[in-house]
Amino acid sequence: VSGPKRIALTGATGFIGRRLAAALRARGHSVRALVRDPARAERMEALAGCALVALDLEGAGAEGDTLARALDGAEVLCHAAAYIPPDQRDPAHAGRCLRVNALGTLALIEGAGRAGVGRAVHFSSGNVYAPSPDPVDEGAPTYPAARATYYLASKLCGELYVEHARRRGALRACTLRVSSVYGPGMVGGVVSLFADRLAGGARVRVSDGGRYRTDLVLLDDVVSAAVSAIEREAVEGIVNVGSGRATTLLELARTLADILGRGEDAIEVEPAREGVTDLGFSPLEITRARDILDYTTTDLVEGLRATVAAR
Ligand SMILES: NC(=O)c1ccc[n+]([C@@H]2O[C@H](COP(=O)([O-])OP(=O)(O)OC[C@H]3O[C@@H](n4cnc5c(N)ncnc54)[C@H](OP(=O)(O)O)[C@@H]3O)[C@@H](O)[C@H]2O)c1
Repeated sequence: VSGPKRIALTGATGFIGRRLAAALRARGHSVRALVRDPARAERMEALAGCALVALDLEGAGAEGDTLARALDGAEVLCHAAAYIPPDQRDPAHAGRCLRVNALGTLALIEGAGRAGVGRAVHFSSGNVYAPSPDPVDEGAPTYPAARATYYLASKLCGELYVEHARRRGALRACTLRVSSVYGPGMVGGVVSLFADRLAGGARVRVSDGGRYRTDLVLLDDVVSAAVSAIEREAVEGIVNVGSGRATTLLELARTLADILGRGEDAIEVEPAREGVTDLGFSPLEITRARDILDYTTTDLVEGLRATVAAR
């Protein structure tokens, strides 16, 4: 583990980036946040003490000078910005996903190589794997063709550009494949939706027998993994960051109802639909993260309690 670093961080105004910026500052690193709107970032408490530099990743490839200035002097690039479409099913968002998450990442990683930034830590998605009921390790096939494809394809493409830069020796790089993140400060998403409804005395409706599943990982665990990846210079390549197990929609609803003191009658379970083969995302095998990042995970009930308490 190395000493304090000069870190250029994208996505610092986001759900994960905000918490990561504060955690890096608390550990004595200097953080330069590359943000679209510095005036807005200036007002964010979590970014106090961070230097702010304007950078829009959409079209960044054509802005060589801006990129060079944004990355000048940085020792590590942490890339946590992404365009996450408001509607994952609408193909109209595919272009912007590619421009920001694929081409924006390409511009950034190539710019980092040119600027002499020695190392990059990149946030990708643990949902890029081909669906599997069992935990998938970093060597499992990727093929996100079932859902969130416009977004996930662009994440996978960005990840390939980073990995290619690493393999040709432009810089050292580590890609974190992060599963579905929940935690204090989240806006939108099924955990927030269910928690809001149940806390407000309403019922929640769970579709398709509640079979949809995803690997839910607590924000704090993801931030700890990212800090560790930034500080451990020897860590390279792909690393899964998840909880290591799948949670179904029904389990999530029941657990939240229990935490909020609501009974089984607060959950309306619609019958399982016939012929449904896409049941969500694969749980991640997290042995590599445990081994090389000293990664630990928080139990779902504990994490959901903390999330509910922070609302
Ligand atoms: N949340 C999850 O469950 C999850 C799971 C797996 C992987 N990830 C990955 O983790 C990273 C952080 O996700 P998050 O949940 O924190 O997302 P988020 O809350 O939506 O934040 C996205 C961040 O990206 C920035 N951004 C968007 N478009 C940009 C552009 N054109 N140029 C520069 N910055 C831009 C946003 O800036 P503005 O504030 O200006 O919009 C914001 O800071 C992303 O790479 C995401 O793909 C997230």
